[in-house]
Amino acid sequence: MRTYVITGGTDGMGKGLGLYFLRRGDRVIAIASGAAKGAALLREADAIGASERAVFLRADLSTLAGMSDALARVTSLADTVDGLVFGAQRFRPRREITEDGIEFTFALHYLSRFVLGHGLTDAVARANTPVIMNICGPGGFPGRIHWDDLTLREGYTGTRAAMQASRANDLLGVAFPHRYPNTRTRYVLYNPMMVRTAMAEPLPTPHRILAKAAGYIVGRSVDQAVPPIARHLDEPPTDPLTAFRRRTRLPLTRKDFDPDNAIRLDTLTTELVQH
Ligand SMILES: NC(=O)c1ccc[n+]([C@@H]2O[C@H](COP(=O)([O-])OP(=O)(O)OC[C@H]3O[C@@H](n4cnc5c(N)ncnc54)[C@H](OP(=O)(O)O)[C@@H]3O)[C@@H](O)[C@H]2O)c1
Repeated sequence: MRTYVITGGTDGMGKGLGLYFLRRGDRVIAIASGAAKGAALLREADAIGASERAVFLRADLSTLAGMSDALARVTSLADTVDGLVFGAQRFRPRREITEDGIEFTFALHYLSRFVLGHGLTDAVARANTPVIMNICGPGGFPGRIHWDDLTLREGYTGTRAAMQASRANDLLGVAFPHRYPNTRTRYVLYNPMMVRTAMAEPLPTPHRILAKAAGYIVGRSVDQAVPPIARHLDEPPTDPLTAFRRRTRLPLTRKDFDPDNAIRLDTLTTELVQH
């Protein structure tokens, strides 16, 4: 029985992936902040006879306290993590600063993946085919790291914050094999492109309607999006880091994967977490 840890495992692709693994007999630890969706996941797990293999950990992954709490609880539940999946996200149309003084999107979309990824490195490395799957946005909408204004004090928009977090996750992937040059763990950056999930819910009304309409025209359902993600977890690529936009493998020579920027962000983030 394999163990999968999935942030954002109570909705959208995270939940779809969790139920996929539960159905075939694996164990799933889903982390998210809302009790209602967590309870709904456990009910669905019960209905497919998987209640003993499904765990819901309630934690607010936008705060450092929530991240370390989740880390401690996962560590106490699982010695080995076969697949670590990052899918927690929530779009914020208005700028919000967390209790740690960090911009919300940067904290939830990027920093939680940094903290849990490094915190669970040993547990993942103990697996037979260790893999970290970061569901994010490589090769998607453009965006950049605002090096002098990571908390986006100037000119905040929800999209700008989301794009910055996307680029930060690209660099998080690039930094991983630099940090652990001898690791067997495979790091996969995966952009599912448009999938019909609750992602559009927090958007202001006209944007929400447009996003949902676009989702129905060009998007895929969660059921369609899950199998390719599961395949990468079952048979991780041989290279230490890979990036995909759906089926297309992206060259790591793109400027989004600049190794100097990756090391710069890694250093900055390490300082941020330590302070
Ligand atoms: N959907 C798309 O079209 C699309 C496209 C490209 C990339 N992606 C990426 O794919 C991943 C999954 O997206 P999705 O659309 O499947 O997500 P989703 O359906 O919106 O689900 C998000 C999950 O994150 C959890 N979450 C939200 N705030 C949280 C917090 N503060 N602490 C812990 N958990 C929190 C949610 O549960 P609670 O609210 O209960 O906490 C939920 O389980 C994301 O990284 C997203 O950026 C999605």
